[in-house]
This record gives sequence, C-alpha cells and structure tokens, in this order.
Amino acid sequence: MSSQPVQGAATLAQPLPLENAAGPEIENPNTAQEVALDDPRQEFDHPPVQVPLYLQETYWWAYVHPAAVRFFERQWLVNLILWGNFNRLRDLALDELGASVRGDILQVACVYGNFTEHLIRRLDPTARLAVVDVAQVQLENLKNKLPDPSRISIHHQDSTDLRFADASHDCVVVFFLLHEQPEAVRAQTVAQALRVVKPGGKVVFVDYHRPSAFNPFRYVMIPILTTLEPFAMDLWRREITDWLPERYRGAKIDKQTYFGGLYQKVVITV
Ligand SMILES: C[S@@+](CC[C@H](N)C(=O)[O-])C[C@H]1O[C@@H](n2cnc3c(N)ncnc32)[C@H](O)[C@@H]1O
Repeated sequence: MSSQPVQGAATLAQPLPLENAAGPEIENPNTAQEVALDDPRQEFDHPPVQVPLYLQETYWWAYVHPAAVRFFERQWLVNLILWGNFNRLRDLALDELGASVRGDILQVACVYGNFTEHLIRRLDPTARLAVVDVAQVQLENLKNKLPDPSRISIHHQDSTDLRFADASHDCVVVFFLLHEQPEAVRAQTVAQALRVVKPGGKVVFVDYHRPSAFNPFRYVMIPILTTLEPFAMDLWRREITDWLPERYRGAKIDKQTYFGGLYQKVVITV
C-alpha cells in the first residue's frame, strides 16, 4: 500500500472513542455491530463470542489467564520469544501499510508488546484502526497498555466470524495468529480476513515458517513448538496460501521469509 492513499478509503475527521467507536462494520446494523468492551449486546445472527476450545486448552497459559497476561506483557520477553526479531517483524508488517497509514485498518488479534502502539503512530489523522480479539482479558490489556486507546476501536470478536461488512477495510494485519489455530479454524480466519478487505486492499500475515536445514534454530524450535504450540508445525509443512478460499487463488501473493526461513510474511492483494 506504500504511503499512498488507498483508493476508496473511508475517512473520518476525528479519531474514534474506544467504547463508542462505530467502524465500517455498522453498514448493515443487522449483520454487523460492534460489541464494545463490557457491552452485553449480542448480534442476532452471530453466536455469542466465546473463548474457543483450542485457546482454553492449549493456550490458557499464554493468553487467557490474567496471570499469563501480566507475565507475557513485556517487550523484552516477546522479543526473546521471537529470538530478537520482534521489531523487525513488526516493522515488516507495518511497512506493508505504509509510513503514513490511511483508510480503515483491521488488526486481527492482540499482540503482546508494542505492535499496536507502533501501528497507531503511523495512522494518518483520518485513518481508523479496529482491533479484534476473542479474549476479553486481551482487549482490556490492550486498552490499558496503549498511551492513547481513544485512537482505535476495540472489538470482542472471533477471527473466524468477523462482524464487519464485506470489503469494509483497506488493510488487514494478522500477526502470529495463524500458527496458534487448528487447521479448520485457520482456514476460516484466512477466509474472513480476505472477505472484509476491499478490492485492491491487502491482507498481511506474519507468522512462523519452516526454516532451512542449515538454520540451527530449526532444531531448537521443533521441541518448543511441538510441545507448546502444537498447531504451529502446520506452517512448516504447508503454505499459508494453501488455506486460501478457491476464489482468491488468482490474487497477487508476495511471500518473503526471514531469519533463515523461521518467519514469513505473506501479503495477499485482492
Ligand atoms: C496474535 S496471537 C499471538 C501474538 C504473539 N505471539 C504475541 O506476541 O502476542 C495472540 C492473540 O490471538 C488471540 N486469538 C486467538 N484465537 C483467536 C480468535 N479465534 N479470534 C480472535 N483472537 C484470537 C488471543 O486471544 C491472543 O490475544
């Protein structure tokens, strides 16, 4: 997207307040409402948002338990988990949006550390950023850690059932979420991210990837991932594009790998 305005971008004169922000999803009030923090409203045609089983069973220690959030919300720790690559991977993702980001941006799932803070810093005054997460504790954490949470809208949503209208966002960013999801869930996340992006817009995935045989981290990561992150090895075996719905097979796809192949960025322009 570089730093150019996105064609057809919707803009607002003012940043959106956290609790009342009405993003582009309200185009059809029957199918897409914001569910703000602490807001008991539920949509008629969406099931209630619940923490999925894989998060409860496999990742409770990382994302669901309040003590986990207190433990992991440390910049140095998330950087260590990515072997010192956090800033680089964050900026690689954000550079896809541009130095000055315009239009409607969607971040699918919270990220420990300063990912969202850096994204906000790049927002043009007219840009709008929505962040969704399925865990309320993560949304609360995001709200509390941001210097200016009023700049964004925060939504309690599942990545497999996004409550935004089709083609409602200029860019969608998915940072290290896919490796945490079972395959069927991952396929739905990919489909939903593509559904809500406008024609000509981008979906940016950054995640794990199969490292080269010469990368020593390959041998360190196998026991770590197979023990702690059992779905992650899917991304070593298959391409993210394997989970693209059929109708996106013709989309422009740009894949780059980093750190000896341990990480990848896949950008799909629809
Ligand atoms: C983006 S991923 C991992 C990011 C990275 N490992 C980090 O440093 O935080 C973690 C987030 O994904 C969220 N998440 C997992 N499954 C989700 C889903 N189905 N829908 C929305 N958010 C989800 C978790 O609640 C958690 O906040």
